[in-house]
Amino acid sequence: MTYLEKLNILAEKEKQAEQGGGAERIAKQHSAGKLSARERLDLLLDPGSFIELDKFVTHRCIDFGMQEQKYLGDGVVTGYGKVFGRTVYVFSQDFTIFGGSLAGGHALKICKVMDLALRTGTPLIGLNDSGGARIQEGVESLGGYAEIFWRNVQASGVIPQISVVLGPCAGGAVYSPAITDFIFMAENTSYMFVTGPDVIKTVTHEEVSKEALGGADTHAEKSGVAHFVAENEAKCLQMVRKLMDYLPSNNLDPAPLKSIQDPIDRKCLEIAKILPTQSNQPYDMRKIIADVVDQAEFLEVHSHYAQNIVVGFARLGGQTVGVVGNQPSCLAGCLDIAASLKGARFVRFCDAFQISLVTFVDVPGFLPGTSQEYGGIIKHGAKLLYAYAEATVPKLAVITRKAYGGAYDVMSSKHIRADFNFAYPTAEIAVMGSEGAINILYRDEIARAEKEKKGTEVRDRLAEEYKTTFANPYKAAELGYIDEVIVPEQTRELLIQCLRLLKGKRERVPSRKHGNIPL
Ligand code: HXC
Repeated sequence: MTYLEKLNILAEKEKQAEQGGGAERIAKQHSAGKLSARERLDLLLDPGSFIELDKFVTHRCIDFGMQEQKYLGDGVVTGYGKVFGRTVYVFSQDFTIFGGSLAGGHALKICKVMDLALRTGTPLIGLNDSGGARIQEGVESLGGYAEIFWRNVQASGVIPQISVVLGPCAGGAVYSPAITDFIFMAENTSYMFVTGPDVIKTVTHEEVSKEALGGADTHAEKSGVAHFVAENEAKCLQMVRKLMDYLPSNNLDPAPLKSIQDPIDRKCLEIAKILPTQSNQPYDMRKIIADVVDQAEFLEVHSHYAQNIVVGFARLGGQTVGVVGNQPSCLAGCLDIAASLKGARFVRFCDAFQISLVTFVDVPGFLPGTSQEYGGIIKHGAKLLYAYAEATVPKLAVITRKAYGGAYDVMSSKHIRADFNFAYPTAEIAVMGSEGAINILYRDEIARAEKEKKGTEVRDRLAEEYKTTFANPYKAAELGYIDEVIVPEQTRELLIQCLRLLKGKRERVPSRKHGNIPL
């Protein structure tokens, strides 16, 4: 055989592999509003940067006539490429080949890129579109899943792992995305569930559509499983690129530093206008964040879930920061179970990847009620406390208004080792709000006044007294719990200064196998 003939064989195989399950199945994929595995990689990666691995892997199954049905690549495209010039490893499941189902060969390909990513400190992005375990292969595919899960756990906290769900993701298959750092979903085409609608109907007699059970909106709003949701696949992949631009490649490398367009000493002139004069009036904490960070750019994570806390990425002086803020416009910014879980997971991600934390505090406390207590607010609230306390990255906090009770301690207080704590003159730092406090402190006096029909008058006077004494930042400042009471205009400049001061921060933790976060 001549060299040219050999080249032709290679070209033919390449072409065959690139056809996936064939033109007809690709057309079916398109008509369902989905892209092919390769089209998705084209949108995710910098143009021309994708290098494929294991293009000719096939399955080894001989049962159910499978030896007659072999597809080069075995239903998943794997390799590496670049996102904004930085290398990432990728896998993209191909639904046109056996429904993207996971078989032994398919799993080996994914495991290979996972191993390479971990060995080289490179992020891993998985595009999931799969009917689950390849039924014809039985336990070999279950083993393949477990090999992936194990690698997900080894890589956790070492390299960023991103899961993009762009089709079905069912059964135990959901647990790989669940272990990874961020899950993206596209509206109307992606869904995740442990058991599908049919099984649910048989077991619990509930009737539910697959969209309502495990669609993008369900997981973005109700379960909190999805961190990001986009209206279509192309937008979803653009969002992944945007997120990657904030993240470091691994736990030892710094996040990319961007050149700054926004002056470091820019005054934050909006904050004073945003903060209401009445302490019970809502406002949108995201507007405060936008006024402080570089170019008002804030990539919100979990924006539809537990909206009483806001978390996301931004830059200050070009440096990536993780921003956490209580959100007074939802549940008055109270901490509840969902907000604690959302905040804790985000804080731990930032700590694992050396991303400084900036916390904007306006919290009236933990949400009271039996549903919260029965649901375990004690253990879930403790997760947020634990996450902040164990975080050794630079931690900055700004109290914009309320910092009450246990929530004051939890939200990056000095006592759990925040590095710099600031408060606006509008801050109120106390054990509880004035209403609750006077009911306990002056129970008898209030009861007497109510009998004499002077309840409101006495209450107002006592509440005012309490506010004058405690509802300000100065008691905390006297004790050194607040480093400085600042005018809001200074926020940006001060935070950037502090981040630069803390660049060399090193904190040792006691030697141990791992802590025991209250799960
Ligand atoms: C082998 C599969 C497959 C699978 C789909 N296909 N799922 N082949 N193993 N798991 C094949 C179909 O036979 C079909 O082949 C092609 O993929 C496209 O499937 P369709 O059914 O035509 O597509 P659609 O109507 O869009 O439905 C998609 C689907 C459905 C909802 C995913 O295919 C489905 O329910 N599949 C089975 C899902 C499942 O039960 N998987 C096992 C779950 S248990 P042709 O040749 O016709 O194109 C599991 C355990 C994991 O995953 C445990 C990990 C610990």
